[in-house]
Amino acid sequence: LKDERESLMIVSAFAQKYFSRSLWEENEGRTIGLSYFRERSFRDDTLKKFAVGYSPDGKAPFTEKAQKQGYKMEFLEKTGLSIKRDDWVRDRFAGRVMFPIFNLAGRVIAFGGRILKDDPKAAKYLNSPESEIYHKSKVLYGIYQAKREISRTEKCYLVEGYTDVLSMHQAGIENVVASSGTALTPDQIRLVKRFTPNITIIYDGDAAGIKASLRGIDLVLEEGMNVKVLLLPDGEDPDSFAKRKGASGFREYINENETDFIQFKTRLLLKDAEKDPVARARLITDVIRSVAVIPDTITRSVYIKECSRLLDVDEEILYTEIRKQKYRQN
Ligand code: CTP
Ligand code: MN
Ligand code: MN
Ligand code: MN
Ligand code: MN
Repeated sequence: LKDERESLMIVSAFAQKYFSRSLWEENEGRTIGLSYFRERSFRDDTLKKFAVGYSPDGKAPFTEKAQKQGYKMEFLEKTGLSIKRDDWVRDRFAGRVMFPIFNLAGRVIAFGGRILKDDPKAAKYLNSPESEIYHKSKVLYGIYQAKREISRTEKCYLVEGYTDVLSMHQAGIENVVASSGTALTPDQIRLVKRFTPNITIIYDGDAAGIKASLRGIDLVLEEGMNVKVLLLPDGEDPDSFAKRKGASGFREYINENETDFIQFKTRLLLKDAEKDPVARARLITDVIRSVAVIPDTITRSVYIKECSRLLDVDEEILYTEIRKQKYRQN
């Protein structure tokens, strides 16, 4: 099994080099892939830092090259780089720009591939399938490139996408990772926690899913982390926002708009509840559920004070409610 993992990493490393070479050195890659990145204003040093590439279009140019070089079909298939049926084989990522996903040690374990022309019939991003070396729920995109800066600044920004990570680096904000569009998992939270207890979740301004994601954030609180959230203006994501505002504008926006999670959640839910007493009661239970999972008692008491003020409810009542909830949790 150890040998198999090593084989999968070796073929992934080969693929990364192949995609990178085809982006920088081949005609097709330069005219299609590199121009794409440049049109989106990515600088060469940013592209190199994240080792992005281009997978040539066609049936199976990558797979053929890999096989010629002696890489076994078994491993090409298990990494998902090649898709094989009885009578044909093709490259999974043909015609896409490639974002390699690195593990903490800096080895390539998977890829995300973006289509060049947005097309409602095709997935914008394709990702490697789960494999012996790639467990999607345990990985954060960019962690390898960000870990030093996360430790140094004692802070981690969490964004949605690949290009958000690249653009924030390019703007000089390097303590950033992406969940790649999925809800945060406990393993991903623990990965961040190895470097810092402070996390700020940055939501796309289009995020219809903000409310859906609130519950997921209780997991982060449970790990004893300090969670803040930042909502971008309508229609912006960190990539577009960083490019429009520049580094200093982005930092200024962060400083002015970053909100503590419990406060954010309370305000967001309050907007809906307004004067409806049933909705208000439900809101209080909901907010208290988040506060109840915070492991540190002092931190918890600070939040109770804060919530008491925001919700206009006695602290004592909140404490009683928390005791009830903790009783239920145990
Ligand atoms: N994603 C995915 N499959 C899709 C769409 C999205 O895996 N079909 C993941 C990708 O990791 C993507 C992230 O979800 O980076 C966020 O999605 P979205 O905001 O739609 O894409 P962006 O990252 O903004 O990509 P781009 O700027 O290139 O359009
Ligand atoms: Mn495994
Ligand atoms: Mn989005
Ligand atoms: Mn986005
Ligand atoms: Mn985007």
